[in-house]
Amino acid sequence: MAKLVTVATVDEIPAGQAITVMLDDYDILIAHVEGEGYFAIDDVCTHDDGPLGEGELCGYAVECPRHGATFDVRSGEALTLPAIQPVRPFRVVVDGDEIKVALPE
Ligand code: FES
Repeated sequence: MAKLVTVATVDEIPAGQAITVMLDDYDILIAHVEGEGYFAIDDVCTHDDGPLGEGELCGYAVECPRHGATFDVRSGEALTLPAIQPVRPFRVVVDGDEIKVALPE
């Protein structure tokens, strides 16, 4: 069972941009991919804990600001080295104008 938590309203994350939030013990990046919607992943790079939210979002790929690994925000998949392991994805629900993230309970 997951707990849905409102993190923003849709107008707070324009297409092509991302925000970061801390919910319970999770640092989460929420990205708005143009034409695809909103996606959430761990805000911590699996290579060496870089803050992905401080990196650049290009389409569906976010680049870690530390050593340049990229991740697919839609799935958490590592797209380029030096990261190999995926970051954890979180389910996102848009309810009216609210963006909600599903947290594990
Ligand atoms: S910490 Fe992200 S690429 Fe190294």
